[in-house]
Amino acid sequence: MTDKTILRALRGETLATPPIWMMRQAGRYLPEYRATREQAGDFLKLCYNPDLAAEVTLQPIRRYGFDAAILFADILLLPQALGADLWFVTGEGPRLSTITDMAGVTALRPTTDIHETLSPIYETVKILARALPPETTLIGFAGAPWTVATYMVAGRGTPDQAPAHKLKDTDRAAFVALIDRITEGTIEYLDAQVQAGAEVVKLFDSWAGSLKGQDFQDFAVLPAKRIIAELKRRHPTLPIIAFPREGGDGYVGFAKATGADCVALDNSVTPEWAAEHVQIDGCVQGNLASHHMVTGGQALVNETRRIVKAFSGGPHIFNLGHGITPDADPDNVTRMIEAVRGG
Ligand code: CP3
Repeated sequence: MTDKTILRALRGETLATPPIWMMRQAGRYLPEYRATREQAGDFLKLCYNPDLAAEVTLQPIRRYGFDAAILFADILLLPQALGADLWFVTGEGPRLSTITDMAGVTALRPTTDIHETLSPIYETVKILARALPPETTLIGFAGAPWTVATYMVAGRGTPDQAPAHKLKDTDRAAFVALIDRITEGTIEYLDAQVQAGAEVVKLFDSWAGSLKGQDFQDFAVLPAKRIIAELKRRHPTLPIIAFPREGGDGYVGFAKATGADCVALDNSVTPEWAAEHVQIDGCVQGNLASHHMVTGGQALVNETRRIVKAFSGGPHIFNLGHGITPDADPDNVTRMIEAVRGG
């Protein structure tokens, strides 16, 4: 048995003070992150440099003492390992070669080949497993198949994921084949992270909110269920966090439907609603709006306390509703942590 607070919450324990970590906790709002990224050359070189990727993962742990470290990498490294071209345009975001039909899916590399590209990521995990303080939990992650597919089809981020919806609705066979390939790749990628030392894994479905009705069942619930079932078959005690962002009513019953141990909540739902409708099934994570890390002040403290109180009757991991943004003030993170821990 372990005493790590995040693992206790994920096993369903209600703690007097919720453990804390923060999405994108290693990122551009930190001057030490910007310095290391510069040393690496660019974002992708940083992801594939195990020593520097481990260094930026550790920076927010040293500065704030978070209860978990999340592996520094990106959800788009898996598409790259499957054969997509990937690059980042400064100030704009990711660009990938596009997949528009079955031929594009068939041309992807076999799942067994992904480790060739991704082995530096496993090296980062190994370094972190040795370097982290004993009380800090190491979280690995991947994108959920729908979110990864939206980037692989469109070749970039889109406001409404229209290209992926179009492929889904006009060439179902190609779209399902793509989801299946990503699902298989995600299982092997996360399995390798766990073998290297990740203690928890998280599936990021950032665009789950654009899947409605049966589509939400078919492409947010089912792929997560497949991935979780296979990972738990291989690693029966592995805790898994699922983040169907902007899932709304889809959050209700999501843990039961997928087998996830914890559902991460964005801030489009209130903590009082989520305590009643989602936390009844187990651990939840969230859900302070990221803008408080920019604006700070009494509103940050009040909203933090409100969330802690609303979730105090069950297992809870404090987090933001989405990643911290580059314009955030590092001192506001300190204030948030103080407010969670009773300040
Ligand atoms: O949370 C962490 O600290 C771990 C590292 C992490 C990154 N990306 C580093 C990153 C994680 C878990 C991700 C997940 C990710 N990546 C998601 C899902 C979560 C979410 O935010 O919705 C998505 C959609 C991506 C794809 C991606 N990567 C985009 C759209 C962008 C550009 C937008 C932006 O914020 O610049 C990235 C780049 C990225 N990934 C950065 C970081 C720290 C910024 C790159 C830089 O340093 O220039």
